Amino acid sequence: MSTKNFDVVVIGGGPGGYIAAIRAAQLGFNVACIDEWKNDKGGPAPGGTCTNVGCIPSKALLQSSEYFEHAGHSFAEHGIGLKDLNIDVKKMLARKDSVVKQNNDGILYLFKKNKVSFFHGRGAFGKAVSEGYEVTVGEQTLVGKNVIVATGSSARALPATPFDEETILSNDGALRIGAVPKKLGLIGAGVIGLEMGSVWRRLGADVTVLEGLPTFLGAVDEQIAKEAHKAFVKQGLKIELGVKVGDIKSTKKAVSIAYTTAKGEAQTLDVDKLIVSIGRVPNTTGLNAEAVGLKLDERGAVEVDDNCRTNLPGVWAVGDVVRGPMLAHKAEEEGVAVAERIAGQHGHVNFNTIPWVIYTHPEIAWVGQTEQQLKAAGRAYKAGTFPFMANGRARALGDTTGMVKFLADATTDEILGVHIVGPMASELIAEAVVAMEFRASAEDIARICHAHPSLSEATKEAALAVDKRTLNF
Ligand code: FAD
Ligand code: NAI
Repeated sequence: MSTKNFDVVVIGGGPGGYIAAIRAAQLGFNVACIDEWKNDKGGPAPGGTCTNVGCIPSKALLQSSEYFEHAGHSFAEHGIGLKDLNIDVKKMLARKDSVVKQNNDGILYLFKKNKVSFFHGRGAFGKAVSEGYEVTVGEQTLVGKNVIVATGSSARALPATPFDEETILSNDGALRIGAVPKKLGLIGAGVIGLEMGSVWRRLGADVTVLEGLPTFLGAVDEQIAKEAHKAFVKQGLKIELGVKVGDIKSTKKAVSIAYTTAKGEAQTLDVDKLIVSIGRVPNTTGLNAEAVGLKLDERGAVEVDDNCRTNLPGVWAVGDVVRGPMLAHKAEEEGVAVAERIAGQHGHVNFNTIPWVIYTHPEIAWVGQTEQQLKAAGRAYKAGTFPFMANGRARALGDTTGMVKFLADATTDEILGVHIVGPMASELIAEAVVAMEFRASAEDIARICHAHPSLSEATKEAALAVDKRTLNF
């Protein structure tokens, strides 16, 4: 058994871990990153949930299925005719896998470029030693002066219904369905439910989503959530709110879900496949946290302060394994900030300006506070909205669903939240994030020249709407 010493040992090579490792190496530290993810040949596949079974493959399938839907539904109005439109699911999945592999390989290249030592295997705490902490990986022992735990999260299963990834699917199986199911069920109308439900609906599945809460996308601004709900229902997504899921019976070919509707009626949903997307749990089993006395909370997440410090000096934790939103870019920001704090710098993450995006069609994106949050806080605000229907570029695209909405302080005009449902919301939200980071007012955005014709003009117009002076609506 060999022992190697490092300034920083990172456990987990997802967006939190691999970015922390790269930033620490840039700052001159001798860094190791341990990750256990295996590709289908048993080789290393760094990038975590995000790269392997999350952000990247889901966006690849969303893109393929969106092209398919456009080809089937909107090409004709452009005068483009197509005969015998079909989807080769195997090829679509192979393309998705190659996109994933490009990202895995890219991270291995970045490790080499930045001289990060990569270890493939499970990292577990050994004991505290005078130089720091022992972390074992296979037969090797690494000693880190600092350890960053970035072990991420896994899909939460329903208590009596474990994932078999054949008919009862987590996000992993949901990204590998080999043929379009006739009937697909999803439990949980959250981010995964809506994104994965969209993929398979576009490809022809009859999709039903069962959601436990009575409100649709409760964390989203109500006006935006209503608009999105209308669009999804029009597309054919069946969304049942306020249900109580009961017994689930499955065979190799079918699943039967008993549930009670919001009105109290007993119902059964019979489907070919069921995706369970009811949230995620932090990965801390197998980490041997108890060996060093690393404190976990009641959910099994590593307990940290605002700066990602754990209860142990020199041990940090970032990303999905700690509190806060489970988002790749939040994990990355924390990874960078921790590396900088280890170097004695003032790494900073602004939790108020972390954007959210749901990559459905229309896309939903937001940053800052919702109207319902401002009301609950008793904050005086002004609201301005602008519909894509009145935007020239959206009309040319043939994609006019949705709106941009600004919320600004009633007195100072400071932007408090921006909410978008519509085309390219994921890209448009970046301007709002920059504006809020600079504590801009709605008038600041309203006075900036935006290219014409562009979707970003809807952002400018929504900012103008705060002062009730839109020009094109
Ligand atoms: P992870 O990405 O989970 O990485 C943790 C890594 O640590 C994994 O490789 C794991 O194998 C490894 N590991 C765990 N324990 C050990 C151990 N003991 N030893 C060695 N290695 C270990 N977020 C977005 O921002 N945008 C999106 O579009 C988006 N889409 C998503 C779609 C889906 C279907 C899912 C499931 C998630 C999506 N997310 C998205 C969320 C995003 O994937 C996570 O927030 C992000 O991956 C968290 O990064 P992380 O580094 O904390 O953890
Ligand atoms: P989620 O938290 O987004 O949604 C889970 C939904 O399931 C909620 O609406 C909840 O009310 C419902 N639910 C919970 N238990 C239930 C039950 N027993 N019966 C019926 N409904 C129930 O979680 P999801 O979709 O699993 O995604 C996990 C996380 O992954 C997200 O919160 C997000 O952080 C991340 N993610 C981010 C994406 C993005 O940024 N575009 C895409 C996909 C995932």
